[in-house]
Parts: sequence; C-alpha cells; structure tokens
Amino acid sequence: MALSDFLGELDQLLAAAQAAFSAAPDGEAVEAARIEFLGAKSGRLKSAQQGLGTVDKADKPAAGKRFNEIKEALDAALQAAQDRVAQVAAAPTGPALDPTLPGKKPRLGHLHPLTQTIEDLKEIMGRLGFSVAKGPEIEDEWHNFDALNIPASHPARDPLENFYLSTAEALASSATNDAAPKSKPLLLRSQTSTVQIRVMEKTPPPVRIISLGRVYRPDTADATHYPMFHQIEGLLIDRHVTMADLKSVLRLFAMSYFGGEVHIRFRPSFFPFTEPSVEVDMSWHDRWIEMGGAGMVDPHVLKAVGYDPEQVSGFAFGLGVERVCARRHGVTDIREFYKNDVRFLEQF
Ligand code: PHE
Repeated sequence: MALSDFLGELDQLLAAAQAAFSAAPDGEAVEAARIEFLGAKSGRLKSAQQGLGTVDKADKPAAGKRFNEIKEALDAALQAAQDRVAQVAAAPTGPALDPTLPGKKPRLGHLHPLTQTIEDLKEIMGRLGFSVAKGPEIEDEWHNFDALNIPASHPARDPLENFYLSTAEALASSATNDAAPKSKPLLLRSQTSTVQIRVMEKTPPPVRIISLGRVYRPDTADATHYPMFHQIEGLLIDRHVTMADLKSVLRLFAMSYFGGEVHIRFRPSFFPFTEPSVEVDMSWHDRWIEMGGAGMVDPHVLKAVGYDPEQVSGFAFGLGVERVCARRHGVTDIREFYKNDVRFLEQF
C-alpha cells in the first residue's frame, strides 16, 4: 500500500470519527461511536492498523508516527464526547434562572372579622362623641360585681358561672395560716360593665365612653355561645339623660353598622346595675335578633362611684360583638370565628 493512500485513509477516518463523537447526543451514542472507531476487535482504527503492515518498509516510520497521532486524536475526541454528555446529564434541566418568570406575590392578610367589627364600632360611636376606654380582663369582685350593685348572694357570682382565679398569694395564705387576711379574689371579667365603674371612679361627669373587649363565662360552646366572647359597652352620663336618648343612640349605631333601615325593640328585663332595664333587639332585613342588654344606670351604681344621682343620670348598654358581626355577614355559627381557618377568614 502506498504511503499516500494509507495517510489519506487515516485522515478520512479521523474526520469521520471526530464528526461522530461531536454529534453524539448522549452516552449511548458516544459508546456506539467508540465501538465503531476504537473497538478492540473490529473497530475502524483496528482495520486501518492492518493497512500499516502493507506499507513499504522505507515508509513505515512515517506511517507509524501518523497512525499514533491519529489514535491519540481519536482517544481525545472520545474523552471530550464522554465529558460533554456527562455534564449534560448532571446539569439541571432548563436554564438556572429565568428572569422572565413573574415574581412570587407576597400573600396579603387582613384583620380578623371580629377585629374589623370592633374597628367599625369604635368609628361609628366615635362619630357620636363616644371615646374608647379600656379595662383589664382580670378583675376584682368590686368592679365585676359589688360596684355594679350585684350583691354577694346574687347567682351571677356563683363560682360555676365565672372563671375565678386562684392567686399565688391566696393559695399561700390558705396553706399556711387560716387566720391570715385573705387576698381579694380575682376573676376573668364576665362583662365589660366593669369598665363603666373604672371610668366613673376616675372621671367626674359628664361621661361618654365605649369599651370593647373580651369577656369570659364558663358556657358550653355552641352556635351562639363560647366561653370567651366580645362585648361593646356604652356609657353616657350627663344631666337629663333619658331612655329616648338610649334608643336613639342604639338606632343610629345599628343603622350605621348594618346600613339601611334598622328597627330597635326594647323588652323589659332586669340587670342589677340598671333601672329600668331592657333587652335590646334589632331588626334588619325583616329579622329580629337579640343584641344585648341596656338600661338607665341604677342610682346605687352612681353612688358607688361617688356621683350624685340627684344631679346626673345616664344610660348604659352592653352588646355582643360576635352577634352583630355574625348577623351582618350571615354567619350562623360563632365558633367559626375562633377556628383560624383561612378558608373562612378570607371571605371578610
Ligand atoms: N353587662 C350586661 C351583660 O353582660 C349587659 C348590660 C350592659 C346590661 C349595660 C345593661 C347595661 O349581660
């Protein structure tokens, strides 16, 4: 075989092999090309090697040198192809960063429906000239009962009707010395009327406040009861205040909150701290619901806080926040308010 023929054959072989290796898309194709060109038994390089034996003796060194160069070039092309497909397999599919994708929107929450209602009620009563007063949720018996004209024998003070707290001091004194002065019993307030007393004790009349917050009673939870709920308390003390003022304020309040025509109905009732006392019902969209209690502040209460019942009079009311909120939004079970299920809460 002439040297030039042999060298031409080698060049063709190299070109074909390089094309096959660089076109191979995956490991399988690279392996197929390796067998075709570099296969130990019947690869094309192997057959070319047989041609080397037929080259003239004088040309052998040149042919052998070229053959070795071609073999090295083929090995390098194989290695490059193997590296390339290994990298493709390891790389994550798709580009690492796609700047054209829309960003992740932060999820915006909102106030709980009861908090929204509380804010609405404050705003409405603020427009009627009532400022917001706050009181503690842990109360003493004076503010929760005595000053509100609820005597020691009254069933509302029964331990089964209230969440009394054992104070550390009370426990310690009863354990060590029965004769030691007992500390005053404390309880979770059962009504926001406590705030009436706290405000009147500190402020001379006239008074025009509302107070909103949690109250606690050991009620079994059902669609309309829960051991914790919210009340809005209103108190207005001035000269010549009448039941007509009470009804007007409640009606304006209800019409502002519900929107449209709302009727107010008073039913005679009894509370130790108001005289006369009424249950307040409201009708909106032709349905009556009970909203809470109200009445003219009892002279005993005015005296307990140092007011002169001959000089001033006033009204007070206490309404359930859950009730007005549930009625306005058509919620039929107040337990929904406390479950923290976003599918419910999202709707408000
Ligand atoms: N505190 C009463 C209750 O919780 C409601 C009330 C408030 C009644 C003010 C009259 C006046 O039931």
